[in-house]
Amino acid sequence: MKRYMIALITIGMGITAANAADESTIAAGKALNDKHCVACHGPELYTRKNRMVNSKPSLFTQVQRCETNLKLQWFDEESQSVTEYLNKEWYHFK
Ligand code: HEC
Repeated sequence: MKRYMIALITIGMGITAANAADESTIAAGKALNDKHCVACHGPELYTRKNRMVNSKPSLFTQVQRCETNLKLQWFDEESQSVTEYLNKEWYHFK
């Protein structure tokens, strides 16, 4: 019985950790975006009718393109978290 309880608690913690990681990824993406990415354009570019980006992979590519132009030298994880943030807020790709 005791062992069973411990197993349940462990599963519970795993689920909580997964959700927290998701939210912290988006929070990290928002922080990076707010710091580095709002000088030239804001959300109006992401929601305009003829926006360039039309899929999640192309959003990632465009984030990297702007980031490279700015010589920020982000890791893929950082570009990925900004991609997740922009997608959640504006693009809404599956
Ligand atoms: C030096 C100015 C500048 C900065 C700073 C900048 N961008 Fe851009 N960004 C551009 C230009 C120019 C375009 C292309 C606009 C066009 O073609 O009309 C663009 C386009 C984009 C698009 C595509 C919009 C669409 O049409 O769907 C995304 C996404 C994007 N930028 C993300 C970022 C991110 C993330 C950062 C921060 C790392 C960033 N940008 C910082 C200049 C900048």
